[in-house]
Amino acid sequence: MHRPTDGHATLARLSPSIWVGVAPRGDAGLNVTSFPAESTAVHWLTDGHATLPSALAESTDAAAPAPNAPFGRHLISIADLGAAGIAEVLGVAEAFAEVERRAIPKVPTLRGKVIATLFFEESTRTRLSFETAAKRLSADVISLAVATSAVKKGESLRDTVETVEAMGIDALVVRHSSSGAPTQVARWTKRARVVNAGDGWHEHPTQALVDCFTIRQVIAERTGDDPASLGVSCFEGLRILIVGDIAHSRVARSQVLAYSALGAEVTLAAPGSLLPPSLEGWPVAVAGDLDSALGRADVVSLLRLQAERGSGAYVPSLREYTAGWGLTARRLPLLADHAIVTHPGPMVRGVEIASDVADLPVTVATRQVANGVAVRMAVLFLLLGAEGAGGPRD
Ligand code: MLT
Repeated sequence: MHRPTDGHATLARLSPSIWVGVAPRGDAGLNVTSFPAESTAVHWLTDGHATLPSALAESTDAAAPAPNAPFGRHLISIADLGAAGIAEVLGVAEAFAEVERRAIPKVPTLRGKVIATLFFEESTRTRLSFETAAKRLSADVISLAVATSAVKKGESLRDTVETVEAMGIDALVVRHSSSGAPTQVARWTKRARVVNAGDGWHEHPTQALVDCFTIRQVIAERTGDDPASLGVSCFEGLRILIVGDIAHSRVARSQVLAYSALGAEVTLAAPGSLLPPSLEGWPVAVAGDLDSALGRADVVSLLRLQAERGSGAYVPSLREYTAGWGLTARRLPLLADHAIVTHPGPMVRGVEIASDVADLPVTVATRQVANGVAVRMAVLFLLLGAEGAGGPRD
């Protein structure tokens, strides 16, 4: 994040030549030439103004990559982003976090766009934060209530997607219990962008982005830095311990990809029955037991037992699971003083985390939820751009 000389606005870099800037209302006189020479275009997110450089605003071609995205047309996997792409998303999310702190946290960036959330599996946080994010960007949001839709009459996923897209939808945010469903949806759509909001055991890329954003935010607070100025260097060598039901967790897969891409040292801690059958190609170490691994960890990322995927059958009993792998009050003193405990939610208190521990400041689950909105605003913005929005000085 670079700050202009008068200190009133912030800029994040979208790509080598494109910057996103956030300025307070009425700060139209900022001198963009004070930014690095290569910053040829600035997308301003002021209270009333938003624009994209016309070269980027032209294309609505389905085959074209998203106008601003560091990834392709869709966001299916963290692998679509790589380290540079993750850094870009975090930078843009930082700019949107500033928007969120305003009295009226809304920008017209996606005015005229329609975003549909298609959730074929339960969700509280992810669906509501995507919908909040879309509304804060002034997009129209529709939400398919699967339980009362034609899906219940036997309509296929493909027909459902084609039906929704025929209504002129610009983006589909898809959650499905089948791994790979959003990949299929992306093949079927002609122009709509697709975001994977969690598919089976496969991935949950926006959750991993939220976790990266939150970890960096906490580190920045402690060092007194502006989070964006840290870039992603704060992940280099960071020791991250992922604990729990790795085998059935899409969050774990996205986290491993994200954390390792950013240079963190990732260790998994789980009973053997909850580790994937093969870890070949996973850039991770495996801890033999939780107690000895906890003290080394800068970040402890807890996961829920994915009961809906049959995890219960892989542990002798919940009590034994908690005794071996839960973050109990007894284990609290084993944590490093600076440790950060994350949890994607929903937390099952008393199983993977003791209720008292969940409520301590060391656990940043609520902050993760709050950050989910800015991060998802960044993803939607990067996928959909701001074609048709007004100019910076409108
Ligand atoms: C998910 O949908 O995967 C959640 O964010 C994590 C969980 O359900 O445990």
